[in-house]
Amino acid sequence: MTSIRIYVNFMAKIITIAHQKGGVGKSTLALNLAYSFGRNVRTALTDTDPQGSIVQLQEIATGIDILPYERHTLQSDYDVIFVDTPPYIIETMRPIFLQSDLVIIPTKAGVPDIMAIRATIDLVKEVQQEKKYLKACIVLNMVKSRANITEQAREQLQVYDLPILAEIKDRVSYTNTFLTGGIHAGNDEAAKQEVEELTKQILELL
Ligand SMILES: Nc1ncnc2c1ncn2[C@@H]1O[C@H](COP(=O)(O)OP(=O)(O)O)[C@@H](O)[C@H]1O
Ligand SMILES: [Mg+2]
Repeated sequence: MTSIRIYVNFMAKIITIAHQKGGVGKSTLALNLAYSFGRNVRTALTDTDPQGSIVQLQEIATGIDILPYERHTLQSDYDVIFVDTPPYIIETMRPIFLQSDLVIIPTKAGVPDIMAIRATIDLVKEVQQEKKYLKACIVLNMVKSRANITEQAREQLQVYDLPILAEIKDRVSYTNTFLTGGIHAGNDEAAKQEVEELTKQILELL
């Protein structure tokens, strides 16, 4: 007897972490979100930069797959694929945004930092003309523990008219997460909680 199998390919949601500057915590955030999602759904992580730090994780990542960027859109075995990006010239990011379902823009809380994300947000809005269902959000990242600064930053960010999600604090525990398998593998409970909250909010956005 021949059996008929029906294959249904669900497309993975593609979540890109972007900011045209380096050092804002993109890769660390991409990694921790990927590990966090990986606890519940089939998750892959990729980097548009073949020289980037994510690619080095191929051997040590557990619970998530590390993919070469060229192959990520061919994948149907994942629910979510996180895409890390290097610092970039703004126009080179357009095709990457076009392939994304959600763009996460991390920013520090300082005034120059908040101004620096305008170019990325402008590009998102431009791409949204072409791809209406592209979503975007801002994550305050590496936030120093001074609540009033964060409040001011949130107010200033309102001009961009994008959701501002739960924030990630500046914590030593994040600096090791590349080698230790993400924040959930460590014992910083406050950090785990904030990553979990952010994960929940991203799931609601998707
Ligand atoms: N939430 C955080 N708290 C403290 N240090 C952080 C945090 N996120 C990232 N870092 C550190 O900041 C530096 C830059 O982070 P990285 O993720 O490489 O940024 P990017 O990918 O934007 O260049 C790294 O040394 C990293 O360990
Ligand atoms: Mg990086």
